[in-house]
Amino acid sequence: MAKARSQFSPTLTPKRPMTEVIAADGAALSQELQAMRQALFPPVSQKTLRSFSSVESAKLIGIADAYLRQLSLNGKGPQPAISPGGRRSYTLDQINEIRAVLDENSKGKRYVPHRRGDEHCQVMAVLNFKGGSGKTTTAAHLAQYLALQGHRVLAVDLDPQASLTALHGYQPEYDIGSNETMYAAIRYDEQRRPLSDVVRKTYIPGLDLVPGNLELMEFEHDTPRALAERSAEPFFGRVASALGTVSDNYDVMVLDCPPQLGFLTLGALCASTGLLITAHPQMLDVMSMCQFLLMTSDLLSVVQDSGGDLDYDFIRYVVTRYEPSDGPQTQVVGFMRSLFRERVLTNHMLKSTAISDAGLSKQTLYEVGRENFSKNTYDRAMESLDAVNGEIESLIRQAWGRAA
Ligand SMILES: Nc1ncnc2c1ncn2[C@@H]1O[C@H](COP(=O)(O)OP(=O)(O)O)[C@@H](O)[C@H]1O
Ligand SMILES: [Mg+2]
Repeated sequence: MAKARSQFSPTLTPKRPMTEVIAADGAALSQELQAMRQALFPPVSQKTLRSFSSVESAKLIGIADAYLRQLSLNGKGPQPAISPGGRRSYTLDQINEIRAVLDENSKGKRYVPHRRGDEHCQVMAVLNFKGGSGKTTTAAHLAQYLALQGHRVLAVDLDPQASLTALHGYQPEYDIGSNETMYAAIRYDEQRRPLSDVVRKTYIPGLDLVPGNLELMEFEHDTPRALAERSAEPFFGRVASALGTVSDNYDVMVLDCPPQLGFLTLGALCASTGLLITAHPQMLDVMSMCQFLLMTSDLLSVVQDSGGDLDYDFIRYVVTRYEPSDGPQTQVVGFMRSLFRERVLTNHMLKSTAISDAGLSKQTLYEVGRENFSKNTYDRAMESLDAVNGEIESLIRQAWGRAA
């Protein structure tokens, strides 16, 4: 009996403290990820944006391919690179130059979409407190789509898990130092820095990034103390104030929110002019979204009573990872549409291996060329992304008072 028991008694060799194990696992994983990234994107050849075929370029500019060719032949605007096979391609910088050239001569249509006059900077918060509802995928594709269309875009990573940052070629725990995230610009102590100090250019012309990392969590810890002291600007205005200091440089800002309703998310809600609530159309996700909405409205009414600004140009539900052939999903979408009506975007983001595969190599589908996938898979995914993002862009244009 005694013998049998000793088999199960705790071993006498001292156990490694759990914190040490977790720290070591974290360090090992981080090192491995860094090595994988170096192999994928060697430091000498930083991530760059591919160039676009003449068909893609003409579509991005909004003119016919033949007209684009004519412009180049007439020596108007930049000259495309020509492959040995005779294919013309343009960089995004060149596409933007062509837009400007067209605007010089055009009387009606404008090709450079920058906001002007009293059109206000549009701030889109992408949120839902469910992880995996497609927030980061939606935010990254929207930000890049808008930059490809010629907008000046600031993407802001408010999630300590920093997937948006990783998608743009930075490994959060290696490449982003302390005081180099949004936290730097909203912290309550004397180490606060202007947001412009932490904004980084990306490899996509027109797209800047405020990166994130775990340091963002500090804001959740600091805020209760600051609330008790009642001295500083309240938490809900701080993200808005920080963004306000750089908003002259941008047409649209896209905020990728953390999967929780903490102080950062509330800050984002107060800074936004438009809300995009992502929803994977499954019953459990919709039930969780129900709690999210109820909690959000409770919290927002408290914020509003304390003077927070909560005026939105629009609120839209974005159906993500949608599989139209899945009956129950279609039912959930129908159910959402009957409840929320025009607040559900007409177009849905389809589930596609092209999108998840691109994600595996830390890319959006806009970065990956069509040659990397079966044409059907690529086209279907791209069509759905363009439709969703185009719909959001037209809401932005309407908020500016332009024709949709
Ligand atoms: N439309 C889609 N098709 C296929 N996979 C998708 C799609 N949208 C998101 N995913 C995948 O689902 C996972 C979660 O998406 P993500 O955007 O990171 O969600 P969240 O930011 O809400 O946690 C990721 O692995 C992503 O690649
Ligand atoms: Mg995310």
